[in-house]
Amino acid sequence: MLRPHRSMIERRLALGPGHCALITGASHGLGLALARQCAARGMDLILAALPDSGLDARAEELATTHGVSVRAEALDLTADGGTEALADALQESATPLALLANNAGVSCIGRFETTALERSENCILLNDLALVRLTRRLLSALRQEPPSYVLNVASLAAFFSMPLKPVYAASKAFVLNFSLALAQDLRGSGVQVSVLCPGAMLTHAGSCAQVASGGLLARQSCLDPSQVADYALRQMLRGRELIIPGWINRLAATLGRVAPRPVAEAVISSIFERRETPSNDDAASTHRASPSRETLE
Ligand SMILES: NC(=O)c1ccc[n+]([C@@H]2O[C@H](COP(=O)([O-])OP(=O)(O)OC[C@H]3O[C@@H](n4cnc5c(N)ncnc54)[C@H](OP(=O)(O)O)[C@@H]3O)[C@@H](O)[C@H]2O)c1
Repeated sequence: MLRPHRSMIERRLALGPGHCALITGASHGLGLALARQCAARGMDLILAALPDSGLDARAEELATTHGVSVRAEALDLTADGGTEALADALQESATPLALLANNAGVSCIGRFETTALERSENCILLNDLALVRLTRRLLSALRQEPPSYVLNVASLAAFFSMPLKPVYAASKAFVLNFSLALAQDLRGSGVQVSVLCPGAMLTHAGSCAQVASGGLLARQSCLDPSQVADYALRQMLRGRELIIPGWINRLAATLGRVAPRPVAEAVISSIFERRETPSNDDAASTHRASPSRETLE
């Protein structure tokens, strides 16, 4: 029997005009790159980020450039009622929800003992609890017009235990395992769940400083957020549930899963040298490293 070509599958399930995407953490970085890709496909958007992040200006720019409807929701997803308020915004949308991209996330870098507990808690509240709450709340809307998609953003860190990012890496391991379990749970329901595990991206001063001070592999595996967004959406539309952009990152993830722990620890120290660098909440450096030229396929 002839099997349909991948690009045919992609076209059949393509997202476009008449579909709405809700993207968290869309004021910059990967979230903004995802918003740009969805707007370019003709999708209406609901974008969320913290207040005073320039989200309104981004929304206006996307609406004008692509002729789509864009709603900006400035709110704190970790605050009481934050995810509820965002989910309520969907009721005002004229187009059905076809994509929920749980992208908002914060890093938390430093030794556990000397890192403020509030930062560790905020990392778990945003990366995990807000993601679970929003997914749970929006599943019924996603089920209404299949096929629809949940794209959860984890990290390459999800495959490792990382001494200088213990809470962040664990929070992303939660996203990875939760998403893969939910993907199984929802198979056949018309809602596909994919989890994206990018390596380093040059999105903010903290990640740039980290890449610049990291090992050779960190610099070689680093990708531009627009490349990652394009790759993630294409792979998601092809039905992939686990998406790891870049062959170096895929190799590292495989090692993280199958290698004995001392080997995995050696790999992780060569990707992220064990040197303390600023996080994305307190970074002062704006030094930029060059993204690699590695191919994503
Ligand atoms: N950068 C990397 O190297 C890297 C690597 C692997 C995985 N990731 C993951 O990829 C995702 C995107 O990363 P990124 O580097 O593009 O992030 P980013 O540039 O730091 O942007 C984070 C986004 O989340 C929003 N946000 C933060 N706290 C929020 C809150 N409490 N409520 C609502 N929105 C909030 C931010 O809004 P404001 O603009 O208002 O702050 C911003 O829009 C994250 O989940 C991250 O963990 C990143």
